[in-house]
Amino acid sequence: MRRKLAAGNWKMNGTAASLAEVEALAKAHPTPAVDVLLCPPATLIARMADRAEGSAVAVGGQDCHANISGAHTGDISAEMLVDAGATHVILGHSERRTDHAETDAIVRAKTEAALARELVAVVCVGETEAQRDAGQTLAVIKAQLAGSLPDAGVDGATTVIAYEPVWAIGTGRVPTLEQIAEVHDFIRAELKDRFGPVADGIRLLYGGSVKPSNAGDIFATSNVDGALVGGASLKASDFSAIIAAL
Ligand code: G3H
Repeated sequence: MRRKLAAGNWKMNGTAASLAEVEALAKAHPTPAVDVLLCPPATLIARMADRAEGSAVAVGGQDCHANISGAHTGDISAEMLVDAGATHVILGHSERRTDHAETDAIVRAKTEAALARELVAVVCVGETEAQRDAGQTLAVIKAQLAGSLPDAGVDGATTVIAYEPVWAIGTGRVPTLEQIAEVHDFIRAELKDRFGPVADGIRLLYGGSVKPSNAGDIFATSNVDGALVGGASLKASDFSAIIAAL
């Protein structure tokens, strides 16, 4: 069985003062029935990893470069994330795809770099509202999965897929449970087609306006193995309630 995963993405939020939230979270869930991951901005990774040490909270990055080192001002490599105490990294988030023009090929190269350094890659896919309205959702997801995942090394231990409809991120709008199930079932089938039986172990997270009040229904939906949570992961009390709903 796939162990559920509650992943929090702090995006460009948080300073040293926010680290108290990690301690509160760790204290609230000493032995959670699910995996718990927080991905703070890069400036906080090492300090969060220190605070979370010995707890059930894992720490991840929000991006990494495809190269391990070199002349890439402002970038961070997978090796540096590991060095800072990260065990996971989010890749191909729609905000990276939009703000930094990340293509599927770039996401794939970054995923290869993450897997090579034994970081668990949380690879994001999702359609825009215009694509959904045009009936292109499954075709978009299919192309993103095909282009963003490497041929080798993808399995349940190394890779997590997050389905995040772009129009649901930070908007308070959530797809119907039927729409979530349709996409998650489709992603599972696509992964099985490409990677075979190991695809059964790959966790599929839903992301986009997950809150304590809707988490239970979303988590009970077909092929949903957890959530990638933005805004509601910033406060330990909200994220705790989501963890408890898993
Ligand atoms: O990575 C997280 C997502 O983009 C969801 O963000 O929960 O604030 O809608 P949100």
